[in-house]
Amino acid sequence: MLNEETLKAILLALARRSDDDVERAISESAVLDQAERARLRTALDSAADPAGMARALGDAVREATGLDFLANECYRAAFYLGDGLPALRSDPLFGFFSSKRTGRVLDKWVHYFPIYTEHFSRFRGRPVRILEIGVYRGGSLDMWRWFFGPDAILVGADIDERAREVSAPDHLVEIGDQTDPEFLRSLAERHGPFDIVIDDGGHTMEQQIVTAETLFPLIADGGVLLTEDCHTSYWDSYQGGVGRAGTFIEWCKAKIDAVNGYHHDTTVDRVWTDTVDSIAFYDSVVVVKKQQRFAPFAEQVGHAEFLLLPRFSAQHVIELTARRDAAVAQRDDLLRQREEDRRSAEAREAQLESDLAAARADTDTLRRLPGASAAAGVIRRISARRRTD
Ligand SMILES: C[S@@+](CC[C@H](N)C(=O)[O-])C[C@H]1O[C@@H](n2cnc3c(N)ncnc32)[C@H](O)[C@@H]1O
Repeated sequence: MLNEETLKAILLALARRSDDDVERAISESAVLDQAERARLRTALDSAADPAGMARALGDAVREATGLDFLANECYRAAFYLGDGLPALRSDPLFGFFSSKRTGRVLDKWVHYFPIYTEHFSRFRGRPVRILEIGVYRGGSLDMWRWFFGPDAILVGADIDERAREVSAPDHLVEIGDQTDPEFLRSLAERHGPFDIVIDDGGHTMEQQIVTAETLFPLIADGGVLLTEDCHTSYWDSYQGGVGRAGTFIEWCKAKIDAVNGYHHDTTVDRVWTDTVDSIAFYDSVVVVKKQQRFAPFAEQVGHAEFLLLPRFSAQHVIELTARRDAAVAQRDDLLRQREEDRRSAEAREAQLESDLAAARADTDTLRRLPGASAAAGVIRRISARRRTD
């Protein structure tokens, strides 16, 4: 049966691009029987280049033996022999990871790096609060510190005391069980609200679901919950299986209905409807982004009156302007009228004054004439007329 040594010889021969060495490794291996040799040759013949051959070999190994660690080596070779490496060369976290040759152990699925980079880059260099559940030997905390920078507040949580002991002395590691909502809430109270929660803990269904249910509502607006190794939802040993009730992936699928909760009348948890911006599914990783949502609405554009609000506003403006203009015109009319009244009153007054002056002059003249009493009668008449006006 295929073992590590024979597989290594085949993969090295593939890396050297030597068909002869590949054939020699297969034909001279003492652990392979004829059927296995034939299966490996068929797999290798199905691809045209070393990367494709390594991948095909991995598929055949998985199918025949179920030995994932051997298949893992094939896929690893396919990645480095093919386009995988150039594609990830500019990824900062993959750069950190692949150049790490000393220090604390860091064990990652390589395709996680671009996922981290996609969802975490916007937080880089900022004073964000990050919680990682599952510290192990502290290797990933080292990586997050390097990535997020000195201003990030980084908290690790693990059920194992050793995680605290072996982590870098300046890393804060809390000890507790992620299936205990009280423990999770206390982390959020003491160190949150977190902008990022990474669940890389025990990966059981209960652990992942309790963590998501408890911590997502407590994450800061704009933050993310990233749950790793969700392939356990498909593993029998974790009570997983395709479509099996109770798995984390099934729980996530149900949340899709909550995200669309505005569009059906089935009961959903409003926390998820109102605050989940998106749920992104990757191989083994789910990223839930939190964002307070406005109620969804449709709008039509492409013509002048596409917004109801401005249309109403425009009507109001026209009406208010008309009312104001009418009021101003009314006021001006009154002012003008008052001015006219004042002027005509003054004119009348002046006229009376001149009449009076003329009358006085007449009176003086009359007084000097014989029959002055007749003049007095004239003065009385004029005075009476003035009072009447
Ligand atoms: C996959 S390792 C973490 C690896 C680490 N994040 C890294 O990348 O180097 C999983 C960790 O989860 C911890 N763990 C397991 N069950 C847990 C639980 N119920 N609560 C908290 N941590 C748990 C384990 O002790 C272990 O250290």
